[in-house]
Parts: sequence; C-alpha cells; structure tokens
Amino acid sequence: MKIIAHRGASGYAPENTLAAFKLALEQKCDGLEFDVQMTKDEEIIICHDYRVDRTTNGTGHIKDLTLSELKTLDAGSWFDKKFTGEKIPTLEEVFEIVPPGILMNIEIKNLAKERRDIEQKVVDLVLKHNRMDDVIISSFDHLSLKTVREINKDIKIGFLIYSYLLEPWTYFKKCGIDAYSIHPAEEYLNEDFVLNAHKNNYKILCYTVNDKNTATTMDKMGVDAIISNYPDILAK
Ligand code: G3P
Ligand code: MG
Repeated sequence: MKIIAHRGASGYAPENTLAAFKLALEQKCDGLEFDVQMTKDEEIIICHDYRVDRTTNGTGHIKDLTLSELKTLDAGSWFDKKFTGEKIPTLEEVFEIVPPGILMNIEIKNLAKERRDIEQKVVDLVLKHNRMDDVIISSFDHLSLKTVREINKDIKIGFLIYSYLLEPWTYFKKCGIDAYSIHPAEEYLNEDFVLNAHKNNYKILCYTVNDKNTATTMDKMGVDAIISNYPDILAK
C-alpha cells in the first residue's frame, strides 16, 4: 500500500507549503496530495480553503487576490513560529521540487457558484512540465473532472467522494469520465467497495487516514494508497 502525504506532511509542517512537501519527500512518501485554486490574475496556486484566513496572516478570498498579493502572506507561522516566512506556492513551484516518479494528486477546488477555467490551466501546466505520468487529478466536483477529461483524454482522473453512493459502479462507468481511481473517505469505505473497485479496474486512494490501526486495516482490505497527514504513519 502506498502512502500519499495529505497537503504534504501536514501533521508536522504547515499544510500545502513547500516545507510540508519537502518534509514528506524526506519521509519517503510515495506521493503528495494538494489542493489547487486560481488567483484573481488566473495563476494556479496551492491552498485548501477558498479564503486565506485560516492558513496565512492575510484575509480574503483567493479568487479576489492576485498572485503577488498572495505572495506577501506568511503561510507558515500560524502552524509554528519556526515556519515563519513560508509562502503559498504555485503549482509550478511544486513541480520544480518534486522528482519524477513521485505521484502528485492534484485536487481541483473550484467554487460551485462561480466556476472559472481552472481545468485548462492545470492541464496545460502538467503538459508544460512533462508530468503526465506522475499526476492524478481529483475533485469532489465531478463536472470539473468531466471538463478535464474533455480537455485531455490521457490524464489520470480520480473521483473524490464523501458519502455512500447508490449504484456507484453504474455512475462511475456511465458518466463519461473514464477514471483511473476512486478516492473515498475512510469512514465510508469497506472491503466490498474495494473488491468491486478492483473488479471494475479502479484503484482506491483513501483519505484521510491518520492513525496506524486504520492504516493497517486499509492495507488488509487491499486499498492501493492512503492519503495521510503523516507520511511515516506505518513506521511510527
Ligand atoms: O484528496 C483527499 C482530501 O484532501 C479531500 O478533502 O477537504 O482535505 O481537500 P480535503
Ligand atoms: Mg485535498
């Protein structure tokens, strides 16, 4: 079972920063998961919340701030003083520090009420940096995933879900996305679902697994990867 660092090694360093990604790499993660959004001036940056308030010393919506405004913010000291000066990274900055062979699960966060053209920009950057083999694009917004598939027929796509679904296998097969993986929340995942996923040729990447017992259970169930704040979870 592979271990993917959720927002980087976010249990030990400020989430979605280069510090968290570098630490996850040092801890020998198999991959990184991070959230992407588009700035006011249409740059692709890494941040989980739609507002910067929780994870920086700034305030406001990412869609209303330019990249240079976002770059003035401190994205580290809220977590620990020793990370003062960490910045919100761009997707390109992440590509620069992640070696080939490390999986990058890029989760698209697109505001439902104000959809913008983030998918094209993300796919363009993946192609520009020649990272097709290392990337899975996921989202809770399956319309966004459909747009990604329409833009590129080869890029790997993962369905993020947070519920029990009725007729999931019909849905996944018939919705026109041709996905690589399904990313269920750990609390909704059972062995039957994993077996059916594999029967239908999908990998299971399960989030967010932060204790060793649950990680071991997931491994026994045949889960392909867990997404964890602690990349060293099985070694702890
Ligand atoms: O991709 C797994 C997980 O990150 C999805 O939820 O809210 O942490 O982005 P969230
Ligand atoms: Mg995420």
